[in-house]
Amino acid sequence: MAQTSPQLRKEVETRRTFAIISHPDAGKTTLTEKLLLFGGAIQMAGAVKGRKAAKHATSDWMEVEKQRGISVTSSVMQFQYQDHVINLLDTPGHEDFSEDTYRVLTAVDCAVMVIDAAKGVEAQTIKLLEVCRLRKTPIITFINKLDREVKDPIELLGEIESVLKIDCAPITWPIGMGKTFRGVFSLLGNKLNRFTPGGEKLTKDVEVIEGLDNPRLDELFPLEMPYVRESVELIEGASEPFSLEKFLSGEQTPVFFGSGVNNFGVEDVLQALVNWAPIPQPRDGGSREVEPDESKFTGFVFKIQANMDPKHRDRIAFFRVCSGGYEPGMKVYHVRDGKDMKIPNALTFMANDRVKMEKAVAGDIIGIYNHGQLHIGDTLTEGERLGFTGIPYFAPELFRAARSKDPFKAKQLHKGLKELGEEGAIQVFEDELGNLYLGAVGPLQFEIVAQRLATEYKVDAIYENTPVSTARWLTYPDEKTKKEFETEQTLRLAKDADGNPVYLATSIYNLQTTQKHWPEVGFHTTREHG
Ligand code: G4P
Repeated sequence: MAQTSPQLRKEVETRRTFAIISHPDAGKTTLTEKLLLFGGAIQMAGAVKGRKAAKHATSDWMEVEKQRGISVTSSVMQFQYQDHVINLLDTPGHEDFSEDTYRVLTAVDCAVMVIDAAKGVEAQTIKLLEVCRLRKTPIITFINKLDREVKDPIELLGEIESVLKIDCAPITWPIGMGKTFRGVFSLLGNKLNRFTPGGEKLTKDVEVIEGLDNPRLDELFPLEMPYVRESVELIEGASEPFSLEKFLSGEQTPVFFGSGVNNFGVEDVLQALVNWAPIPQPRDGGSREVEPDESKFTGFVFKIQANMDPKHRDRIAFFRVCSGGYEPGMKVYHVRDGKDMKIPNALTFMANDRVKMEKAVAGDIIGIYNHGQLHIGDTLTEGERLGFTGIPYFAPELFRAARSKDPFKAKQLHKGLKELGEEGAIQVFEDELGNLYLGAVGPLQFEIVAQRLATEYKVDAIYENTPVSTARWLTYPDEKTKKEFETEQTLRLAKDADGNPVYLATSIYNLQTTQKHWPEVGFHTTREHG
């Protein structure tokens, strides 16, 4: 049994690590800002968007992001709320970057799902929830934009239950909708915290009105209250009460209504995170489960981000601490490399700044300056040979062949693509003849890679269509089969960025035929990093 520490346990219990997931435009950025505002991390909303804008201005490759009006990158932010340390991991909403989102979701213990009340459950929400379900990640639901003309709350709950297949336990209920949206009544607390709708800044004067039957409510909202009472009665009869156990097992989601821009309902979400979201959970370390309060430091890289500071061209590896404590300058064991390495000055990320991390425990995310030594999925420990599992690569669905316009820059192209492949920006395969193939889940990935190759590596490349239509990772039962297969299929074989063997099929038919001939060879649609 690994040694644990009660002191560490205490600290771990104050941590909450979560991601916000949503279909683009549902209000993820707005909610992020408002959570930071309520958490005291920023004084004025607009900072996060402002930061995005500043990035746009300075970073060329972000041009794509600007043109498309989408958020490509995901970031990490830490702030304190009611003696808790909250780690918020942002995720890109655009489906072309879903791989990145999946990786981020492996590093959290909980997710907040934002739904646009006018649109209901959207395509990307469905996909993201499937990933959460695989990992049994508890979900808190925030139904946003109640200040607009929206669907009926009862209908929205029904839609979440039937489409996303998760039970809903409404914790708050909206009073009015659209222009007459007045706020949210807490069903659980049986009270209304009435405050003047805020915008950029926080307003503190709150009137507390206890009880749904309180005449003060009728005085304030004479037109809305009859329908509120009627629908609450209906919903209380139809839905199960909130169960912490069911929430933690991912079967039920507490639902909050609100309006991010007006600050309505935001504090309820924060309160739910503090009160209900799980503390950092034990993690599968490959050979054994690692408890968060174990004394020895462990964790894994789930994301690598370049150009966070375009002036420095640096790459940051985002690392989820799974146990023990990080201290500046500590020496750790890089399991894949089999070597020790030092982490002199890891970073933590506040709303607008990155600052030197002084201490991190399980659940915290630290940013490690990376010069190529860390790949996605890498495990660091204090000597034990662990390998945290569950960070997937998916077989790409889109392929391009890449070659440099200038043949003298072929080496540079290789280097650039290798690094971008390690970063997870795109998947890169190299066949026996040295031809390079790019594999993506979404077409925007190609655009970003082309821009980054041009600006960061000064390589103008040509991206051509290729006969490759799908890829499978290979495993062999023995050396003999491997040799025979390799001899017969040389032309269809390649290696991924980490050197793993891959079969590049020209069509599903081609894949099926090969599989039929080689039943003992494993053809895999996903591969775990590391
Ligand atoms: P995302 O990160 O999920 O893509 O969404 P984001 O927060 O950027 O919000 C998308 C749009 O929805 C923004 O409008 C935002 O202001 C608006 N929005 C967010 N929450 C609410 C809400 O509670 N009520 C209303 N009415 N609108 C909301 P935009 O016009 O695209 O951008 P902006 O010019 O307002 O920044």
